[in-house]
Amino acid sequence: MCGIIGYIGNKKATPILIDGLLKLEYRGYDSAGISTLEDTYISNIKKTGRVKNLYDSEGLDNLNGTIGIAHTRWATHGKPSCENSHPHLDNSNTFAVVHNGIIENYAELRTFLTNNGYNFLSETDTEVIPNLIHYYFSKDTKNDDGKFLRAVKSACNDLKGSYAISVISKLYPNRMVVSRKDSPLVVGYRDNEKYIASDIPAILSYTKNIYLLNDYDIAELYNDSVNFYDKNLNKISKDLKNIEWDASSVEKDGFDDYMIKEIFEQPKTIRETISSHLQENELCNFPELNISKDYLTSLNKIFIVACGTAMHAGLAVKNIFEKLLSIPVEVDIASEFRYRNPLIDNKTLMLFISQSGETADTLAALALAKSKGAKTIAISNVVGSSITREADYTIYTHAGPEIAVASTKAYTSQVVLLDILAIHFAEVLGSSASKDLEVLKSNLLKLPEKVKEILSNTDTIKDFAKKIYNEHDIFFLGRGIDYPVAMEASLKLKEISYIHSDAYAAGELKHGPIALIENGITVVGILTDSALTPKTISNLQEVMTRGAKTLIITNQSIKKNNFNLVINIPETDSLISPILSVVPLQLLSYYVAKEKGLDVDKPRNLAKSVTVE
Ligand code: G6P
Repeated sequence: MCGIIGYIGNKKATPILIDGLLKLEYRGYDSAGISTLEDTYISNIKKTGRVKNLYDSEGLDNLNGTIGIAHTRWATHGKPSCENSHPHLDNSNTFAVVHNGIIENYAELRTFLTNNGYNFLSETDTEVIPNLIHYYFSKDTKNDDGKFLRAVKSACNDLKGSYAISVISKLYPNRMVVSRKDSPLVVGYRDNEKYIASDIPAILSYTKNIYLLNDYDIAELYNDSVNFYDKNLNKISKDLKNIEWDASSVEKDGFDDYMIKEIFEQPKTIRETISSHLQENELCNFPELNISKDYLTSLNKIFIVACGTAMHAGLAVKNIFEKLLSIPVEVDIASEFRYRNPLIDNKTLMLFISQSGETADTLAALALAKSKGAKTIAISNVVGSSITREADYTIYTHAGPEIAVASTKAYTSQVVLLDILAIHFAEVLGSSASKDLEVLKSNLLKLPEKVKEILSNTDTIKDFAKKIYNEHDIFFLGRGIDYPVAMEASLKLKEISYIHSDAYAAGELKHGPIALIENGITVVGILTDSALTPKTISNLQEVMTRGAKTLIITNQSIKKNNFNLVINIPETDSLISPILSVVPLQLLSYYVAKEKGLDVDKPRNLAKSVTVE
């Protein structure tokens, strides 16, 4: 959602800002804008639609400033339009601001500013910020060098809600002031050049040296230095972090789209995730955790809380945790969890999964769990993201930057990581036979090769996608461990192909959904657990009798029967089978969306990182 990029240095800012906006496109947006500082004025160009429209706009070449801020806007307050796009300027065109987040008290602030003579040109919440900065700036009677900083700080003090902001001023042509609260913002460091971005991939090709801002921190950037302040404007120091991600990991590398590139990266990313915690013939290793046997013995419940695909990863590992630890596990949607007064105490272990580490609902659920005394572990892909700074412990998935909105490699890494964590806890607790754990570990180590094998033949899936891409409804069925995979497959398909789809536990079919089955409808069945296969096959027979076309994903040797297509995947322990069975289904969604000619990486209305509630 919304993306911020900023540059201050010795080069022309515009090309760097446009490049950054293109890298932020995946966050989801509907308009884009840029402001640069030219000697004594602020140039400002904004366009609705894609960043390309901004890039093609007349006048962009004339922006020669070496300081600038730019933004992709995902509309919340006010429709997507040039007026509502960022950057927003104050009435006197002295300050320009880009903002991510939501100012909850903007109506009140707008009234206050209107009563003080300010006019508003947009419907946004953001426009109050540059005007508030101007208000405080003009009231400040000290004419020292700190006036700009103080005005930003005073304005931030008045804001309720969430914000990451970057401000430039025509009165201060050599600096930029930024701050954040509940919305991500990083500062990139390079000699004589500084960058800001809402996400590391936007600046990774310029620098891997990053400062992470905490809530309420304020930074004042010059091309050759950065000063950090707390909310009372006391100077603070920060460590520069070196980000391991490779700049090429945010390129398409010859693939048509990021999504297909990321699907094909999975043998490598799964291997990376495994190798951080599991080596052949050794105990699982989680040096980042300090969880004792006594603590695990004291637990009465484990909660796994997340949103979207990350929540499906939680559902996919519930069984392995319960089976190996004999501790009840509840998996919850963060937006529900935070409002339902869940039963949590110091005997509850809480796992929060978030690829981005910035999902607002997941962060709120984490804050709730902490307030009730539970231990919290974050599973995230983004170093230094908000969730990693709030949780007691963090385990990184090491999947590398995921750019496509539809999550693929992050999901498989989350599932692999949590499977290994379950085994680790079982080893600490002694709750499962070590022989069984050894078999599971050896099966996990074989997964990268097996995913590779699935990806080596995509033709049959492509052909099936050609047959079904015009459908209006598609159903996914699975039992036990296959049900969460059906849910993930259904989500993937609707996200990028806009085809309505539903996932059902196969046994539930007769309790309603079968009424929707009619001649020609497509049903996808997932069968990876030998104990449940005959039952799911019976359910599939019931839909076939009613004329459904069926695609089967299985690692069981089943008869072709009258199924339209059977995709065989390599065998593995059913507890960890979601890591394999999801791959052909990711491919199915991708090829269906491609057949429909859709932009798979940037599906309509969706954002990669949902930083508002
Ligand atoms: C958005 C994305 C999904 C993602 C979900 C949770 O809805 O479009 O792909 O699964 O957020 O994101 P997180 O970063 O917390 O894993």
